[in-house]
Amino acid sequence: MIQSRQIQSRNPWTRVAPNRAVIAPSLLAADFARLGQQIDQALAAGVEVLHVDVMDGHFVPNLSMGPGVVKSVRRYTDAPLDVHLMVTDPACYLERFAEAGADTITFHVEATDRPRELIARLRELGLGAGMVLKPATPAESLAELVGELDMVLVMTVEPGYGGQEFMSDMLDKIARLRSMLRPEQRLQVDGGINPDTARLCRQAGADVFVAGTDIFGSDDIAAAVARLREGAAP
Ligand code: DX5
Ligand code: ZN
Repeated sequence: MIQSRQIQSRNPWTRVAPNRAVIAPSLLAADFARLGQQIDQALAAGVEVLHVDVMDGHFVPNLSMGPGVVKSVRRYTDAPLDVHLMVTDPACYLERFAEAGADTITFHVEATDRPRELIARLRELGLGAGMVLKPATPAESLAELVGELDMVLVMTVEPGYGGQEFMSDMLDKIARLRSMLRPEQRLQVDGGINPDTARLCRQAGADVFVAGTDIFGSDDIAAAVARLREGAAP
């Protein structure tokens, strides 16, 4: 059990210049048999954050990775780890992923009826605090909470799998949420992000871009990241 007083803030969202595009490769799309090498390639290409998709097979119909993988990745790199919890009860996992080495945790608004408690706990643990909306969940569902967050994540696919088609009907929701956020708060998009969809999301107000297939599905990770960054440029 980590004592919150021992924790210096690990929140990566306060350390990157507001509005600067942040590229966050999703490890879900990496080759798990050579995860360290793929992380090296992505970091060498200049990505700022590593996105870790945690799926429990209940909240979404897929299983992915748990605290053990985060612990290994934490031992391997000091890059900020952005954990996206797609689990039915995120409250059960905050300490475990903080202890494993997460720097920021994003939980689904649909998965808890006590979001303020989870945000407060993340603050005590010194982590970044984000909330995420499934495509069918309206921006207004965060209206009372949005001021307390470092970041809001708008899913641009149905959560559960990489490699899906981008949902362009999320662009209005991105713009709506951007209008609800202060300039220093981040707006992350996740799912089907490539240079073209990144540009559309940037124009709508996003500044953190998660990409799995577009980066790790490429035979030249550095070139893929460079193209993404170009599409995501302010
Ligand atoms: C989906 C995950 C996404 C996904 C992104 O549930 O949250 O992070 O892995 O993968 P691509 O970029 O391939 O859509
Ligand atoms: Zn994700």
